Amino acid sequence: MFRVLNYLTIYLSFLHIVHATSRTSPPTGAKIVRAGTANSGEFSTPSAAVNSLPNDSSSQSIFIYPGTYTEQVSITRVGPLTIYGYTTDTSTYKNNQATIQFGLDAGQAGSDDASGTLRIHKDNFKMYNVNVKNTFGVGSQAIALSQYGDRVGIYGCGLYGYQDTLLAEQGAQVYLRGYIEGATDFIFGQRGQAYFGGNTIGVKGAGWVTASGRSSDDSTSYVFNANTIVTASGAFSNATSRQYFGRPWSNYAKYVGIHARSGEAHIPGRVIFKNTVVTAPFNTALWSEWSTSTPNTDHVFFADYNTSGGGVSGASRPSFATVLSASQAAAYTISSAVGSDYTSWVDTSYVV
Ligand SMILES: *[C@@H]1O[C@H](CO)[C@@H](O)[C@H](O)[C@H]1NC(C)=O
Ligand SMILES: *[C@@H]1O[C@H](CO)[C@@H](O)[C@H](O)[C@H]1NC(C)=O
Ligand SMILES: *[C@@H]1O[C@H](CO)[C@@H](O)[C@H](O)[C@H]1NC(C)=O
Repeated sequence: MFRVLNYLTIYLSFLHIVHATSRTSPPTGAKIVRAGTANSGEFSTPSAAVNSLPNDSSSQSIFIYPGTYTEQVSITRVGPLTIYGYTTDTSTYKNNQATIQFGLDAGQAGSDDASGTLRIHKDNFKMYNVNVKNTFGVGSQAIALSQYGDRVGIYGCGLYGYQDTLLAEQGAQVYLRGYIEGATDFIFGQRGQAYFGGNTIGVKGAGWVTASGRSSDDSTSYVFNANTIVTASGAFSNATSRQYFGRPWSNYAKYVGIHARSGEAHIPGRVIFKNTVVTAPFNTALWSEWSTSTPNTDHVFFADYNTSGGGVSGASRPSFATVLSASQAAAYTISSAVGSDYTSWVDTSYVV
């Protein structure tokens, strides 16, 4: 029996290996980014490759060889663009070898968006197996990925920061089979229609996974399905019992001082977590008000369904949180989050 199990294990790990697909050379027609390159026609940074593209409606692609590229990259071209990172396993973020990083906070940059290491201000964008980091660290908003496009897919990518890692600000967007790390409000935005499936979410310190700042009673939402929330490597000790699924962002509460965007009233929050495994030790409330003086909980829809894992043992949710039944949960899908035409722009092989 032992021998049979052993053979089974070997057979299963073999299956896993054969299912891993590598992407270690550029797809036909892609612009090539290679650190330190002297080859004619290649680019030594992602921004140089992006800036070389025609600003027309043509479809373009970029392939990034292994390396750490320290710069901000802003993308505004009109036509579709796909960026591929070098990897030995396209199905996961774990083998990514191309990293774009920068360390700038919103105070220095002038706005959340301007601090972004990678800023997407275009529609029809895909990115595979690239890591994007804001290395600023603790103390202020410092965005890794600032996303303002429509029909945007982020596949097998790693997004790293501490406060406000991912600005999922507007447009239909999906994040699939990747990694998202942070502590304070690290997935946030106002009008994003976002779906998150099969990601690992890494908690670095005390805080809130999401801070939805939905600006009106519109149809936008953040829908999470089958993600795993873990303690990030190198997490601070205050990650324990001081992390939540989310809190409702109010513009006034957040943008006092340097970020004043006066006049915008915010009705916060519609966030749904389905089928989540939480191993990071959450606060037993699971959901939080914005602050004691500004709770912002009047209009929130904060819901979870089939949450499991040691991190949520003894959960005792506040009255503004909802636990969904199976039939209620069935209404929140990739289609409800980003639109029923999603198969026309999402890489469905990554959908969880
Ligand atoms: C491309 O054109 C769009 C639309 O006119 C414009 O908003 C954007 O700034 C342009 N980007 C570049 C890189 O020229
Ligand atoms: C969590 O701990 C880190 C490291 O000591 C600290 O910088 C951070 O401010 C703490 N977070 C909170 C919310 O207290
Ligand atoms: C609950 O979530 C777990 C983890 O994602 C999943 O394996 C399981 O199938 C889910 N159960 C139901 C009833 O959906």
